[in-house]
Amino acid sequence: MPNATYIAYEGRGHAGPPFLLIHGFPLDRSMWRGQIDGLAPNARVVALDLPGFGASAPAVDGSRAFTMDAMAEHVISVADALGFDRFILGGLSMGGYVALALVRKHRARVLGLAFLDTRAEADTAEGRRGRLENAERIAAEGTGFLIDPTLARLLSPRTVAERPDLRNGVELMVRRASAAGVASAQRGIAERRDARAELAKIDVPALVVVGADDVITPPEGARSMAQAIRGAQLAVIPNAGHMSPFEQPEATNVALRKLIRKVNAA
Ligand code: MLT
Repeated sequence: MPNATYIAYEGRGHAGPPFLLIHGFPLDRSMWRGQIDGLAPNARVVALDLPGFGASAPAVDGSRAFTMDAMAEHVISVADALGFDRFILGGLSMGGYVALALVRKHRARVLGLAFLDTRAEADTAEGRRGRLENAERIAAEGTGFLIDPTLARLLSPRTVAERPDLRNGVELMVRRASAAGVASAQRGIAERRDARAELAKIDVPALVVVGADDVITPPEGARSMAQAIRGAQLAVIPNAGHMSPFEQPEATNVALRKLIRKVNAA
C-alpha cells in the first residue's frame, strides 16, 4: 500500500466496465476530458492525477525517484477506493509505463489495456542522463525551463496552428505540475525497465494508439508494440501528435470503444 496521499480524480458513466485513465508527463487528468465525456455511455470512466501532478499532492520529494511501480500502486489504491475489482486501464506515454508496471504485478485486476503514445523500451544511457540532469536543475530553479521545450514536442503542427485552446490547456497542465512531482517522475522514468519481453505475455484485449505526427513515441514504435501483443489493434490517429486523445478525442474514442466492446465480449 502506498502512503496515504491526496489523489484527485474525476469520472463519469454508470454502466459498463470501469475504465481507469493515466495521464502522461508532466500532464494531468484534464488531458482526458474528451474521454470522460465521450466514453461515459460505454464505461465507468475515471481519470486521476498521479501524485505531484494536477491537483494531487506529491508522494515523494524531488530528490528521490517516484518509480513506475510506486505510481501503479497509487492507481490500485484509487481502484480500491472506488470498489473497482477489475478494470480496463489506459495510459498515455508515462501513463503507459505505469500501465505496464501495474499489469506486471496485478494482472488479475486488468480486463483490457490501451497503450496511447507510449513505448515498452527503457531509456538509452543518454536519455537517462538527460532526465537526471533535469531533475537536478529543477531542484535549483523550478520547472520553468522545461515548459517551452516540452510544449514544442507534445502537439502536432496542425494542433498548434489551429487549436490555441488546446495548446493553452497543455501549458496550464505543465505549469500546474509541482516541482517535486516533475523531478521525482523524471528520476522514476529514468529507472524504468525494458518491458518489451513482457508484451508477449499480455493476454487481455489490447489496443495501441498513436498520433500520426507523434515525434516522441513515433508510429513505427507503436506498430512494433502492437505486433508484439497477441491480437492487439493499432490505431494511428491523423492530425495528432503525442497527445492523440486530447488532440483528436473522437477519433481516439472510436478505437477505445472497440476495445470496450472486445472486453465486454471476452
Ligand atoms: C510523456 O508524455 O509521458 C513523456 O513523453 C514520457 C517520457 O518522457 O518518456
